[in-house]
Amino acid sequence: MKAFRAALLRFADDGSAVYDEDGLLLVSPGPDGRACVRAAGSWQALAPNYPGVAVEHLPGKILAPGFIDLHVHFPQTDVIGSPAEGLLPWLEQYTFPHEARFAERAYADTIAPVFLDELLRNGVTTAQAFCSSHPASVDALMAAAQVRGLRLIAGKVLQDRHSPEGVCDQTEQSLADTEALIRRWHGQDRLGYAITPRFAPSCSEAQLRGAGELAAKYPDVWIQSHVAENRDEIRWARELFPDARSYLAVYEGFGLMRERAIYAHCIHFDDEDRRLMRSTGAAAAVSPTSNLFLGSGFFDYEGARRIGFRHGLASDVGGGTSFNPFHTMLAAYCVGREGQTKPGISLAPANLWWQHTAGAAQALGLDGVIGNLQPGCEADFLLLDPRATPLLARKVANAGSLDELLFSLIALGDDRVIERAWIAGVPAG
Ligand code: GUN
Ligand code: ZN
Repeated sequence: MKAFRAALLRFADDGSAVYDEDGLLLVSPGPDGRACVRAAGSWQALAPNYPGVAVEHLPGKILAPGFIDLHVHFPQTDVIGSPAEGLLPWLEQYTFPHEARFAERAYADTIAPVFLDELLRNGVTTAQAFCSSHPASVDALMAAAQVRGLRLIAGKVLQDRHSPEGVCDQTEQSLADTEALIRRWHGQDRLGYAITPRFAPSCSEAQLRGAGELAAKYPDVWIQSHVAENRDEIRWARELFPDARSYLAVYEGFGLMRERAIYAHCIHFDDEDRRLMRSTGAAAAVSPTSNLFLGSGFFDYEGARRIGFRHGLASDVGGGTSFNPFHTMLAAYCVGREGQTKPGISLAPANLWWQHTAGAAQALGLDGVIGNLQPGCEADFLLLDPRATPLLARKVANAGSLDELLFSLIALGDDRVIERAWIAGVPAG
């Protein structure tokens, strides 16, 4: 058993933040041997129950759940910060040519540790990641994550049309590769597989149908794709699938809307799309730094709340400009203020944080497993230094409430705040 004494942040079932200024976190092996949270709460209430347990005292620091990135592209680690005239030119000019390099396992093997280190340095302990269309890219990423004991969900991109040579795959082979990768990786240690149609315009009907069949055959496997990100993309999807009610409905038609299906962006939706998200249990990966960088638009937080479908936060690197969850949360706040309909809304800091932790876990169907520090959760957690920079230290010293403390970190925090990370109870790195 390991015990840590510091301020402690976690989330109640209703999404509200629970904060103990002087907290105690106890971690011990769960039934499967993996380290889990045994107890979490105030030092005063809990400490007498654990006499003789050695406690690491970390005054002035905050223990918090590891962040979850709901949507990130492993082979775009070096594409970050490539400006273009919107999504489709960005894909053609930078993304596809770079992803072609991941055909080579040796190259993918050199980038996988860089990508995972970058996630961890920024406090991201679980990600749902796109690989490239090459199975070797999945093998490289999964193998590197397995060595680190990470919980990671990833999949080979499916794109059998409207894709240049080097990334374009072949329908039958792509589906056979996907099934082989599911069998090789899904459920191995903490790894999960996601069936990954890149987006409807890059997939033939046969490929989408095959993806849907695999999704039905393997119901606990995840699905990930993109939808309703950019107006040119939406126009194109409508031309290619004229019978579908909307772009989102294309995925429904192929059996790709269900729980454990995560769709990035979901910006240009109507209420019927929102109701489809709600009724199927699919979730949106809101990617505000990407949406601002590529000029895609603003996720409609008001609409998501009004209809009530699952959503959480994502970096979408390399369309996104930062691996850092504080940057993503701040961008989400700004997107909420701007809104699609006026007046905008002010997302509460605890809600922003929840969207990147316990809320993201809920979107993945992993609530109670990751993204929180309640008893039974896997012990992926962070030590935060709220005085990591001089300005942050000043701001935090004046914080009069939990909201003010969390907002100070969101507005001024970066990777310097992440002092340490534990993966299943083991210090990372
Ligand atoms: N749509 C299809 N592929 C991509 C991608 O790689 N990034 C983003 N942001 N949107 C996409
Ligand atoms: Zn993306």
